[in-house]
Amino acid sequence: MRQKLSSILAAGLLGGAMLGGTINASADPAGAMVGNPCAGCHGIDGASQGQAPVIAGLNTMYLDMTMKAYRDGQRYATIMDRIAKGYTDEQIAAMSKFFGDKSWPANTQSVDADAAAKGQKLHMSTGCVGCHGQTGVAMMPNVPRLAGQYAGFLNQQMLDYKDAGKAIPPTAMVMRSMLSGLSDEDIAALAAFYASQK
Ligand code: HEC
Ligand code: HEC
Repeated sequence: MRQKLSSILAAGLLGGAMLGGTINASADPAGAMVGNPCAGCHGIDGASQGQAPVIAGLNTMYLDMTMKAYRDGQRYATIMDRIAKGYTDEQIAAMSKFFGDKSWPANTQSVDADAAAKGQKLHMSTGCVGCHGQTGVAMMPNVPRLAGQYAGFLNQQMLDYKDAGKAIPPTAMVMRSMLSGLSDEDIAALAAFYASQK
């Protein structure tokens, strides 16, 4: 189904190009086009195999906010800040809709069960559940999905939030204070818990 949709989109793109580029910048095919360079790291249609976070099925609003935060130097990154720099608001909106409309891919990670059990306890007792939901699937459009996200990325992201020397957007200040009392071991356990969820 997903494959079929991408070939339809690709055919649409090709058709548009042959007709002399009459593609509307906010239409979905433009999202597919601007999303193409992401595949090398985030996998086909954002369903990453682990070298970068899954972006397929993250909320469109969160994708839009966070791409702008990377671009504008508000969110510390190893590479995404440089990648996001090349894009206009319109292109970011189109790619955010493109990835936001996809469904979250099946979870194929194997995770340490003891660490995940410890992480689940912390998730409940530290109050993460209030915004991220029972299993890491938030209902609020500005809160990213954690369930089934790659553990390595989640772990690094939490360490970055905690590190006062690293830039984070105003929307992530709450994360900095939530994580301030947790050890690196606690953070690794939380990452294992979210990564273990479907
Ligand atoms: C060279 C590899 C690479 C490419 C290409 C790339 N990314 Fe990334 N992306 C990463 C890495 C690694 C991270 C983790 C942050 C960091 O270290 O930069 C990330 C993080 C992200 C996040 C944050 C996810 C979250 O859960 O908060 C989003 C959104 C994202 N990328 C979107 C994109 C989009 C859209 C494109 C295409 C325009 C793209 N990326 C291209 C490697 C890449
Ligand atoms: C008041 C709401 C709130 C609470 C409570 C909260 N979070 Fe978050 N969390 C957010 C928001 C909002 C973001 C996105 C921040 C941004 O814009 O970068 C986020 C982002 C994250 C991310 C990054 C995911 C990604 O894809 O980049 C992780 C991991 C995370 N939270 C874990 C936790 C943990 C662990 C706790 C408990 C210790 C917690 N959160 C408590 C609101 C909350």
